[in-house]
Amino acid sequence: MTQPKTLLVTGATGLIGPPLCAVLRAKGHTVRTLSRGEQGDHQWDVAAGTMDRSALDGVDVIIHLAGESVAQRWTASARARILKSRTESTRLLVDAALKQDAVPAYIGASGISYYGIDRERSVDEMSATGGGFLAEVTRQWEGAAAPLKAAGARCVFMRTGIVLSAKGGALAKMLPPFKLGLGGRIGDGRQMMSWISLVDLVRAYLFAVENETTRGPVNAVAPEAVSNQVFTKTLGKVLSRPTLFPLPARLVSALFGEMGRETVLSNLSVIPSQLTERGFHWQQADLEAALRASL
Ligand SMILES: NC(=O)c1ccc[n+]([C@@H]2O[C@H](COP(=O)([O-])OP(=O)(O)OC[C@H]3O[C@@H](n4cnc5c(N)ncnc54)[C@H](OP(=O)(O)O)[C@@H]3O)[C@@H](O)[C@H]2O)c1
Repeated sequence: MTQPKTLLVTGATGLIGPPLCAVLRAKGHTVRTLSRGEQGDHQWDVAAGTMDRSALDGVDVIIHLAGESVAQRWTASARARILKSRTESTRLLVDAALKQDAVPAYIGASGISYYGIDRERSVDEMSATGGGFLAEVTRQWEGAAAPLKAAGARCVFMRTGIVLSAKGGALAKMLPPFKLGLGGRIGDGRQMMSWISLVDLVRAYLFAVENETTRGPVNAVAPEAVSNQVFTKTLGKVLSRPTLFPLPARLVSALFGEMGRETVLSNLSVIPSQLTERGFHWQQADLEAALRASL
């Protein structure tokens, strides 16, 4: 393995943080956490623009996961929280990082929504950004780290797909109706879903920490996207349940508004060119195997 590093992880109490911190520690790295609450080793208050001064002392790599959940109705105040919790927090980290004698590397969460909502063709890290609120959020979120990049620090942006976990995220929300045999495709089911198992996402972060030539955007998705129709059938098969009840696009829009249109109805086939070219090995590249392992 590479030299053990000292890492500061924000948002470590969410879905991705706990297994990521556990794997980093198991690999011999020292992990400190930065949280709004007492559960963190260090505290910050993003809205007030304050953080523990010593949080970054001796830190080699920042992993920035923190951000207000996007899975809520996007009222004006929710939109502001979703955006500012990411951009303002990044600015706090960047300002503190630039004051360190040795400026740490930065690995920030980001999303495949960077590429927009509906792309006819597959996209990779070279593709242009797209439209929509979440694309704007990811652009500003990644952009907030620009001063670090300008200072020569290694910056990685993990453009993450739909994370498969029974503990949270999209899959956990889909499970109750599917378990009752009330699941089905969403809309016409043709929209492409770019997914990644939680296990492989954690491994991709570890890869980015340890492979110090990794820089810039990294699409954190499995090698093959699937249509919602295929995802639905596969989930039904894994749960041994029928999937006969489609959820019409109009109902999704009525129930969830723009949030639904930009998430479950979005059509993005994302290619993980960076991970593939750098020799990353997926443990769960097959959807059925990944779902069985996640559930
Ligand atoms: N899960 C996915 O499918 C997925 C897909 C694409 C991108 N991502 C991105 O990856 C990151 C981590 O994902 P996750 O699923 O682990 O997120 P999560 O479960 O929602 O947890 C995020 C953490 O961020 C902190 N946080 C929440 N609201 C905040 C606010 N208003 N201001 C500051 N901090 C706040 C919390 O940590 P403390 O309470 O400790 O402060 C929380 O535990 C997120 O930024 C997410 O947008 C996730």
